[in-house]
Amino acid sequence: MTAKLIDGVALSKKIRAEVAQRVIALGARGIKPGLAVLLVGDSPASQVYVRNKVKACEDAGLKSVLEKYTADFSQTELLARIEALNQDPSIHGILVQLPLPAHIDANLVIEAISPLKDVDGFHVGSAGALMVGQDGFKPCTPYGCMKMLESIGVDPRGKHAVVIGRSNIVGKPMAMMLLQASATVTICHSATPDLAQFTRQADIVVAAVGKRNMLTAEMVKPGAVVIDVGMNRNDEGKLCGDVDFAGVSQVAGWITPVPGGVGPMTITMLLVNTLEAAERAAA
Ligand code: GUN
Repeated sequence: MTAKLIDGVALSKKIRAEVAQRVIALGARGIKPGLAVLLVGDSPASQVYVRNKVKACEDAGLKSVLEKYTADFSQTELLARIEALNQDPSIHGILVQLPLPAHIDANLVIEAISPLKDVDGFHVGSAGALMVGQDGFKPCTPYGCMKMLESIGVDPRGKHAVVIGRSNIVGKPMAMMLLQASATVTICHSATPDLAQFTRQADIVVAAVGKRNMLTAEMVKPGAVVIDVGMNRNDEGKLCGDVDFAGVSQVAGWITPVPGGVGPMTITMLLVNTLEAAERAAA
């Protein structure tokens, strides 16, 4: 292996320790940051995700409230809960775990969250703020990827960044953040012919597709930074990303592992966003 590892666990630990310090500083002013996590339905994966989010809050000294509802919880009831949390001064961040059951319009629910409490950064107001370079909450996963670049001293300015994937949660906001940081950005996706033609030119590649081994060694420029947002299972049931780690790590300059790369950073940036929401509310 020639590539250096970008250690998301170590970076998360460092950032979470800084969060805990800022939480203590707010505490001295009588304020405890509070996150409300709403889960509708009984998806096992979502249960694990929300449990990890709640635990991370507790570990960093934030308050977290988990509201679990059965799959038949109505859209009207959910909207009413969000409105109550919008008005609740002890709650600074509201997160509705996705996906929602089919009878609930996820867009309507996300738009009901106050942009001041939108710590997921999914509200159109947050997306718009990111687009025009204004302050707002940034989606946690791409925000974490930017922190990883910063941690290794890679400034995107003037670099060619290729983002593979165009989701509202990762691909699109990732491209916007890299553009804001003065990278030249190419967004590739499922309809891009000859993906390798683009990735081979990239100084920074972010893979956010959800398909294992979709980025292989011959698609990567020697020395490139490779960030793997994928979360897949291999044939043995082990967690793996979108990148063929064994091959690409022979070519890349830097690479994120899966697990232990981007994954822990997502929750870390949720803590950062919730803390910032509380700091802004207290300002
Ligand atoms: N489902 C999968 N990832 C996420 C996330 O980051 N936030 C929310 N709210 N739901 C998700």
